[in-house]
Parts: sequence; C-alpha cells; structure tokens
Amino acid sequence: MSLEFSAESKERIAALLQKYPTKMAATLPVLWIAQEQFGWVSEDAVRLVAATLEVPESHVHGVATFYTMYNKKPVGRLHIQVCTNISCMLCGSDGTLEAFEKRCGLKAGQTNEDFTLQEVECLAACGTAPAVQINDKYYEPVQADDVPALVDRLLAETKEGA
Ligand code: FES
Repeated sequence: MSLEFSAESKERIAALLQKYPTKMAATLPVLWIAQEQFGWVSEDAVRLVAATLEVPESHVHGVATFYTMYNKKPVGRLHIQVCTNISCMLCGSDGTLEAFEKRCGLKAGQTNEDFTLQEVECLAACGTAPAVQINDKYYEPVQADDVPALVDRLLAETKEGA
C-alpha cells in the first residue's frame, strides 16, 4: 500500500472510533479524513480506509462513489461548486457560473492547476442564493460581479497558507 495516514489523521480516526458502535459505521468520516489529507479519494485511499477499518474494499468503494462530496479525481487548489438549481438560478447563478468560468479560465466540469469548477445541485442554502461552496466553506450570495475579487482573495489566502 502506497498511502499512509499521518500521525494527526491517525489520532483523529482513533478518537472517532470511540464514538461509533462498529468500525464500519465510521466509513464516511474516515473517508473524509482521507480526503482532507490526500486532497481526493484515490483507489489507494480506498484501500487504506478499508485496511484501517478492517472492512472490505468493496464497501468503502461503494460509499466513496455514492456520495458526491468525495472527490474521485484530483482537484485544484480551489474547488469551486456553483449551485444552479432553481432558487439559485432565479437569483442569477448562470451569471455567477459564467463569471467563474471567465475568471478561472475553464468550463464547468474542468480542472486546471489552480481550480476545479463544478456545477452542482442544491447546496441547501436556497435562502441566500446564489450559493457557492469553495473547498469546505460556503459563500452566499455570490453574484457575477463578486466573483473576481472573491477568487483573488481566496487565491492569495491559499498561497499564504501553502
Ligand atoms: S437551489 Fe441553490 S442552494 Fe438550494
């Protein structure tokens, strides 16, 4: 196996397992820890989670592929998810998505060095539409005019933190 959990991830997993009745029941949060450490859930990460939880790889693979919150491919430094469902669409999400495409230099569904841009279904933030999730934070509402400054700020922040 080519991947290993860091000492910090191992500590988090050990603490998590105290809260679950079985190791299998902790599959979702342990997959999340894997994604946080490795950036995405590769087949090696699936094998690592399965070995850690002592469950079949097929179970972990099934969970990882069922939920869209797990990235099955590498993502850019900023993983931008723009909701274009009905409430957001009525509040201008088409323009928001276009503005991200223009600023990031790619189309929805694509990844480049800095960005992954995705059009997604309802983010459950309909009351403050158009809603956008970037990495693990919500930004709402985000109109087309807000996009360039938001991207510039987050790029600068992630460079500082890199
Ligand atoms: S429709 Fe966009 S957050 Fe619900």
